[in-house]
Amino acid sequence: MSELERIRIEGYNQELIHHRNILFPGFTNDLLKIKTMKLRPDDTFIIGYPKSGTTWTEEIVWLVENNLDYDKSLKTSHFERVLFLDKEPIIKIDQLPAPRVLKSHLPLEYLPDDIAKFCKVIYIMRNPKDVLVSYFSFVKWLKDLEFSGTLEDIVEHFSKNKILYGDWCDHVNKYFSNPDVLFICYEDLLEKQMETVKKIVEFLGKKKTDEEIEKLIEFTSFHKMKTNKSFGMIPKDWNEFIDKFDFKLFFRKGQIGNWVSHFTEKMSDFVDEIVKQKINPKIKVRYLPL
Ligand code: A3P
Repeated sequence: MSELERIRIEGYNQELIHHRNILFPGFTNDLLKIKTMKLRPDDTFIIGYPKSGTTWTEEIVWLVENNLDYDKSLKTSHFERVLFLDKEPIIKIDQLPAPRVLKSHLPLEYLPDDIAKFCKVIYIMRNPKDVLVSYFSFVKWLKDLEFSGTLEDIVEHFSKNKILYGDWCDHVNKYFSNPDVLFICYEDLLEKQMETVKKIVEFLGKKKTDEEIEKLIEFTSFHKMKTNKSFGMIPKDWNEFIDKFDFKLFFRKGQIGNWVSHFTEKMSDFVDEIVKQKINPKIKVRYLPL
């Protein structure tokens, strides 16, 4: 693989990492070591393009994997319960006790070959226009990035492969085409909660009653997660985020279709057209006229 390069992109406060025409946040130091990390059969990976509902899925999966331990969820930092593969040193990931629940935004080609054959991989997709609005808000307030441009600039970046973690359609298409990945979408998790959470539980090889799933859905609802203090417990070694990571801002709206309040018709048509051209036609992106 070619080397990582640090570059400046207009509008961002910090240097970003550039590799094979994909931009990554500046903290992804061990990016190229991830491909050869040691997998364990009881690992679970939760993956999504940034702002697709990854954190929400992580919390559901962590609870299912940990015997619905609500008490621990409230008292232990979410970021220590579910480690962020892209950010943490690979040495730390290697030493974690089993079973590991790991989160990543990486495109499939950066993960070990056959990862989904060897362990469990769950991928969450969200309507890209909601992703872009959420992303815009996130890169504006996150201290590490402090993006100074407009939403229109972000839409432009979408067409030029300048959003962190690469091209949205490529990202989604590759995970969708892997038959061993459980592919879910944000909109279903919000609107068909019981059915979607049951799919996750079954995929993880666990058994939960309808009552247990109802409680899990309630516990991981947007408003409950927004007041779950474990999301405000930022690990000490995340120095660059500590001052400004306001988890209340992270849980922004949690809605489907919030893009309508932010996009002009021109921006909307522009994104629709790109997605129409590049997305695998078998993928149903809800609320897009495909
Ligand atoms: P918004 O900015 O649109 O509110 P990720 O974890 O992949 O970065 O995704 C973040 C997005 O998921 C944010 O979207 C956040 O509010 C939303 N989200 C987080 N938890 C949620 C929940 N329990 N229900 C619905 N949306 C949630």
